[in-house]
Amino acid sequence: MQIVRSNEELARAVGALKRRGSLSLVPTMGALHAGHLALVAEGQRRADSVAASIFVNPKQFGEGEDFGRYPRQEEQDAQSLGEAGCDLLWMPGVEDIYPPGFSTKVSVSGISDRWEGEARPGHFDGVATVVAKLLLSVRPDVALFGEKDFQQLAVIRRMGMDLGIPVEIVGVPTVRESDGLALSSRNAYLSADERRRAVALPRALNAAKEKIRAGLDVSTVLGEAQSDLRHAGFARIDYVALVDCATLEPVKELTADARLIAAAVIGTTRLIDNLPV
Ligand code: PAJ
Repeated sequence: MQIVRSNEELARAVGALKRRGSLSLVPTMGALHAGHLALVAEGQRRADSVAASIFVNPKQFGEGEDFGRYPRQEEQDAQSLGEAGCDLLWMPGVEDIYPPGFSTKVSVSGISDRWEGEARPGHFDGVATVVAKLLLSVRPDVALFGEKDFQQLAVIRRMGMDLGIPVEIVGVPTVRESDGLALSSRNAYLSADERRRAVALPRALNAAKEKIRAGLDVSTVLGEAQSDLRHAGFARIDYVALVDCATLEPVKELTADARLIAAAVIGTTRLIDNLPV
């Protein structure tokens, strides 16, 4: 696996891979786990070569969020990507992505406004701006994103369509621990006790899913899921909602495109999860 940092090195390496065939891109912020590697595996199925990027994007962290303590482990990440058969790893510095004078912001209105957008103002502008830059720098045929960050995936799909970025955006199902907790780089922040309690999040979503499918009243079910989370020790619940999977607008009853989404804080760690219904 080739590792590049500067835009010049990237352009050369990408040119060489494209001469050999199609290319997929897996954008990440590092601290890689099996969820990220599932994106690499899907990228291998969908294209002749796979590139991954690692960039902890300062623009998508709010004030007081975890930018400073976000886990950074370049060597270990490079090793796992190499073992997974990734062809190219791009690890740009902040100046490669945001050179002096950088002034552009990509903002996807509507779909970014609720849920994560409300809890983390400016977050999706930072995500959309960096993903646009990553996609236009590599110009892959396919880009892979996890359903774990369901609203992010919807925002990126919308941006790709609106700007006519010629890349196929592919969503990959969430990879989970054996007890059901979604893999996340932020799980590293959990104490042993919080980790045991955190499983209440996928459990509450699963219970809500079964009840909604059984025809119980949606708002009652969502309220019960919130109280399950409170009982398990989640100190703050940002939302538990049933939404349309394309627009992220809340829906009052079960439809074919409904998705359960949730975000809640345990200790000092904010976890998100979602399930198809
Ligand atoms: P990061 O959190 O590193 O995630 C990189 C990609 O891995 C995202 O598409 C995310 O949805 C996916 N992912 C994370 N956990 C997963 C899991 N358990 N199963 C499947 N996929 C999972 O998301 C970001 O970085 C950034 O916002 C980024 C898109 C790179 C822009 O900076």
